[in-house]
This record gives sequence, C-alpha cells and structure tokens, in this order.
Amino acid sequence: MKHTLSRSLAPALLLAVSLTALRAADTIKFGEFASLTGKEATFGQMSHNGTRLAVDELNAAGGLLGKKIELITEDDQSKAGEPATVVRKLISRDKVVAILGEVASSRSLEAAPICQQNKIPMISPSSTNPKVTETGDYIFRVCFIDPFQGTVMANFATKTLKAKNVAVLTDVKSDYSVGLAKFFKERFLANGGKIAADRTYSGGDKDFRAQLTALKAAKPDGIFLPGYYTEAGLIVRQAQSLGLTVPIFGGDGWESSKLVEIGGKAMEGKYFSTHFSPEEKSAAVDNFVKKFKAKFNEAPDAMAALGYDSAMLLADAIKRAGTTDGPKVRDALAATKGLSGVTGKTTLDAARNATKSAVIITVKNGQFKYLETIAP
Ligand code: PHE
Repeated sequence: MKHTLSRSLAPALLLAVSLTALRAADTIKFGEFASLTGKEATFGQMSHNGTRLAVDELNAAGGLLGKKIELITEDDQSKAGEPATVVRKLISRDKVVAILGEVASSRSLEAAPICQQNKIPMISPSSTNPKVTETGDYIFRVCFIDPFQGTVMANFATKTLKAKNVAVLTDVKSDYSVGLAKFFKERFLANGGKIAADRTYSGGDKDFRAQLTALKAAKPDGIFLPGYYTEAGLIVRQAQSLGLTVPIFGGDGWESSKLVEIGGKAMEGKYFSTHFSPEEKSAAVDNFVKKFKAKFNEAPDAMAALGYDSAMLLADAIKRAGTTDGPKVRDALAATKGLSGVTGKTTLDAARNATKSAVIITVKNGQFKYLETIAP
C-alpha cells in the first residue's frame, strides 16, 4: 500500500520540484529590507508600497530581460541588528540580484558592508547620511544627502525665520540625526548665526523635559530637531507644554502620517524639509499620486516616491546591462544619467549619490502643506 502510494506520487512530486526550480530561474529577484513594523513603521510601509507599485508596473509592461520581477521583502522591525540578518538571508537564501533599502541611514549603514562584500548592488531610496554610499562602490542612493539638507534648513532658519540664535536637539543613536545636526550647524554658523544650546537624546526616549528646560534657559529664537517622527512629535508637544513658543523645524525624518497624531495641536506651524510633496505641480507627480492613491487608498509621501524611483533605477540599470550579474549591474547603475522619476531626474555622481531638490512643508490644520521647492 505504502509502496504504491509513493510510486504514484513520485512523478507528481518530481514535476512540482522542477516547476519550482523553473519558476525560480524564471524571475529576477529584487530584495528589499524595510521597517514594516516598529518605531519607524510608516517609513518602511510607505517605501515598500512605492517599490511595489514600481515592480507591478514593470511586470505589467513585460518585466525585465524577458522575465518577471519578484520582489522579496524582509521586515527589519525598525531594530538595529535586524538589517544585517535579513540582508544576509536575502543574499544567500533568496539569491536576490540587488537590494533596495533602507529609509533610515543607520539601518542602511548596517546592511551596506554585507552587500559590498557580496558584490550585490544596494540602492537606498532615502537614506541621506553621506557615509551610506561611502561604504563602497556597490552602494547607491536616489536621494540628496544631508550636507544639502542641512544647508537648506540653515538657510531657511536665517532667511525665512530670521533666526539668529538656534538651539539644536539631536538623537545620538541615529547617524542621520547626528549628521544632519552637524551640517545644519556648520551652515548656520557660516550664515552668521549662533548656536544657543546643543543637547542630545536617544531614540526611544519618551521624556525630553530636562533637555527642553535647558534649551528654554538659553533663550533661543528657534529650535532645530533633526530626528524621526516618533520623538519629534513628543518633543514638540512637550516643548509647547513647557511654554517654548519659538519656531521649531526639522528634516525629512519628521515625515509620517503619525507625526500630527503624536504631536497633536502643538505641531501647527512647525516646518520640515523633505524630498517630495504630492502638492508639487508636475505631470510626473500628478500621475504618481493618482496611481498610488488608486492602489493604496492614501496619498504617497517622500518615502513612497523614492521607493518607486529606487526600483525604477534598478530596472533601468539591469536593462542597460542586459544581465543581472552584480558587477555589470553595478557599472550600469554608476553610469545612470538623467533618468526621469517622480522625484526628478536621477544622475549618479562619482560618489554614487543623486542631486535633487528639497521641499519645505509646514503643518496647517493638522495637514502637511507644501511651501516651496529649493533647488540644489
Ligand atoms: N533621510 C532619513 C535618514 O537618512 C530617512 C528618511 C527619508 C525619513 C525620507 C523620512 C523621509 O535616516
């Protein structure tokens, strides 16, 4: 009985195994790691949805090199230590041809040396710390870097806010925050401004009253907060309850649908810089916003737009390379010039970075409102 059964099952099993093998060889695997859960969950979710939209469109248009693209996504839970684990898995178990990710600079920095060692190209959609691409010649990004973003916000403080004496509160656990604070201060001092106070916290902290009390005593005429939305929302809320009424502003790390939920009414009139606004007037933005809303029932943010552009950049390079071989795809990526996307044209420079405009957003009636675009 047992014998007959296994004999009759054997051909079916063989067919199933060879079909799986065929299918695996028949797709081009894009690996992605993202914070789908945890403290910065909206970063990963939005970036992932942008990436998915791009892959779906590419597949609908026939795929790449005659094959369909398979997007394999791993959740790093917004936690240090996870990016290394999941990226190793994507490379050795799934045999992805390239890696897309991450949003947060510290998590990109954790994965980058692994991609570099394995000669697997990595494209960060939105990590802005310069060190990310300095890791090596397999590491790319589709966004601007923080020396530019720091300059944009220092000039905004000097020219628009007319601030002369700004306090800075930095997350020491975040490479992004530490870098952006530094670049902001350099330019603000060069503009003739002073730093009234310079204090720190650690990502995950919930009570910022000691630091805010010290900032208040220094009588600043503005506060720069280069952190992520969870802490930024709490800090702005606590600043208001301590009677700190000066303008408060930050960088792209503020961008999340959760920011106003966390910061509440205290967020009104605050400012931040980022990469994209659905309100920008351009055919590429309009078209993207329409498609994204139709698929996900919400408006895209900067991470969604950059996630989309990162997948399109990879597809473009594979097409030009005519192969998924790591070193050849790397060379094609490095040669990218004037590739049109949602966040503008991507030209990768010798340091594998893009040069793009920044936008400034303010919070009005609990909504993000586009103010202006700052060209590089
Ligand atoms: N630039 C941030 C970083 O490097 C991540 C980020 C990008 C956050 C875009 C929000 C929007 O860590």
